[in-house]
Amino acid sequence: MKKILSSILALTLSLSAFADEGMWLLPLLDQLNGRSLMEAGCKLTPEEIYSINHSSLKDAIIHFGGGCTGEIVSSQGLIATNHHCGYSSIQGLSTPEHNYLMNGYWAKSFEEEIPAPGLTITFLVSMEDVTDKLAGLYGDEKAYRKAVQELTAASDAKHPNCRSVVTPFYNDNVYYLIVYKTYRDIRFVGAPPASIGKFGGETDNWMWPRHTGDFSMFRVYAGADNEPADYSPENKPYKAERFLKTSLKGVQEGDYTMILGYPGRTQRFQTAAELENMIATNRVRIDARTVRQDLMWEAMCADPDVQLKYANKYASSANGWKKWQGEELAFGKLDIIGRQQAKEAALTEWINQDPKRQEKYGKAIRGIADAIAATRENSLAVTLLTEAPFRIELITLASIYSRAYRDGRAGLSEAEAAEKTADYYRDYEVSLDKKEAVALLSFYRERARKEDGLKNLGGGFDYETMDIAAYVDYLFENSAFTSYDKLIAAAAAGKLKEDPAFALRDAISARAMELYFSIDQFDKDMEADTKAYGAALLEWQKGQAMYPDANSTMRLTYGHVLPYSPKDAVHFKHFTTLEGVMEKEDPTNPEFIVPEGLKTLFQKKDFGRYADAVDGKIHTCFLTNNDITGGNSGSPVLDAEGNWIGLAFDGNWESMSSDVMFEPDLQRCICVDVRYVLFLVEKLGGAERLIAELEFVK
Ligand code: ARG
Repeated sequence: MKKILSSILALTLSLSAFADEGMWLLPLLDQLNGRSLMEAGCKLTPEEIYSINHSSLKDAIIHFGGGCTGEIVSSQGLIATNHHCGYSSIQGLSTPEHNYLMNGYWAKSFEEEIPAPGLTITFLVSMEDVTDKLAGLYGDEKAYRKAVQELTAASDAKHPNCRSVVTPFYNDNVYYLIVYKTYRDIRFVGAPPASIGKFGGETDNWMWPRHTGDFSMFRVYAGADNEPADYSPENKPYKAERFLKTSLKGVQEGDYTMILGYPGRTQRFQTAAELENMIATNRVRIDARTVRQDLMWEAMCADPDVQLKYANKYASSANGWKKWQGEELAFGKLDIIGRQQAKEAALTEWINQDPKRQEKYGKAIRGIADAIAATRENSLAVTLLTEAPFRIELITLASIYSRAYRDGRAGLSEAEAAEKTADYYRDYEVSLDKKEAVALLSFYRERARKEDGLKNLGGGFDYETMDIAAYVDYLFENSAFTSYDKLIAAAAAGKLKEDPAFALRDAISARAMELYFSIDQFDKDMEADTKAYGAALLEWQKGQAMYPDANSTMRLTYGHVLPYSPKDAVHFKHFTTLEGVMEKEDPTNPEFIVPEGLKTLFQKKDFGRYADAVDGKIHTCFLTNNDITGGNSGSPVLDAEGNWIGLAFDGNWESMSSDVMFEPDLQRCICVDVRYVLFLVEKLGGAERLIAELEFVK
């Protein structure tokens, strides 16, 4: 009886992979079983999407700034991505006088496109399975490194201006040699004001119905040979052999859609023990961030200068903070741990049917659980350190300097440290940081175990008994890190060594090192068990296409435009319109301001060619069941022919556990409609010159 039950279970588990689930590796597209791409509705062949010999669709997709995705949408290297992906660059280019973040910006000519220092974009050149060359070396660190080094060096020699890397997949069971080409002269072309690009703010983040115009535009510039080059006024817009064609046809329920992009991390190859640990860790992070974010928010609301300075720090902190809360809730509601345990029970049953399997995989799940149990308290303690005292910005500044100035470690010269901190001070508000320091240290002392106390703070202060406010007064009065000028003067006078910010930083990192060391002892075994667990899953599901966990490599997910029902009696339509923006308007709430210009266009129905053919409205966002995660942000949403119809920018609240398990009925990808994007570019931004660059499908 039990056997039958578990085989039924195994069957349903594998069947779920047919429901448009999956972040597929491009070279494996033609091996997809279950529902093939074509059956799902795709009109392109795998070769047209990814080819190593010819230009293909993937050449129009870029890794944007390392953490997001973007797409090339014109022959002149015009890039579209999300507003929240361009956010830190746009903030960095903004000043109170030229506040592109709050007011928006559109370059009227190439000359007005603004270099974004430090921003890069990367093309995927090729991927090659090199498992045969590396698998046998597992466990022999030295031999493995040498083999990787040889592979990448040989590949680099064949690919000028490129960088080759070896990336593991399926918990270290498969390896690919991947070749990338990075361009580093990237310029800001334009964006709507944050009231549109981030409309709904943190309130609407991770939620549907959504009305955010979450897009921004940049351009790749290249040297005279169209190859990567450092910024130079001589550089020319990149000549793109491959770029996306734009479709203004809009979407209907059930339409095929696909997304190519760079999903960051998922945990679909983790065991229940790992997942439980993840949720516990996230709880620590949520609580610590609440402390800090409340103070940031208060200061930002009180002063527009602080609002601009802290916009990006706040948004990125709050994005994870809200995600983890949703994840925790969804874990409970959707019984993620219970379902994972059932999967492991079925897997174990299968392993136990064969002594050979038992030998290879028999101790993996248990071994992982044991390692997690042994390290759990210490790893939570590390998280508490890194999310609380380590977030005091004075410590961030001291850390940058410490590397160059004190430890004599390679990597950062004193001049570079000065430059780095100068950048940091631009967005630094010392009075806020001081408040945060009191709050974060108090939070830490309340939460931390006794053995995680901070030692040798200096100034005669004893961590256990001190008045934290008095200590922070002392710290901020005596540290040179509170301003750039003080810092440079102290460095020149050779006075930095005794700085109390270094003392606090050292106290934090000394404890963190002890904790890391204790955890590290379990790492090797845990790694081997994790690999064995991955191998067991692969063998268990042999003959079926299986996609690996996301790891910031390019993937394709295919799916369909779909509504959903979040709870009993509630049905969510698959698209939103500009009417919803007006409904949400709230002049008293900074997250829901609607710019006058947009209201005027709405009232006059001045929609140009961007209104929907059926209802005559501007459609703002739409839903699909594409399987995405963070890092996919900015990815193009493509129709069956590979034409550009939108940008993916978020997931929905009811399935926030989606990094762990795909939920066919609940999980949706939130996309901004390309017609809303181009309506804003043309009608609000007046940037017809960009519209003229695009190639529209008839
Ligand atoms: N949730 C989105 C993502 O992770 C980011 C949205 C950014 N917006 C914000 N309000 N923080 O891709």
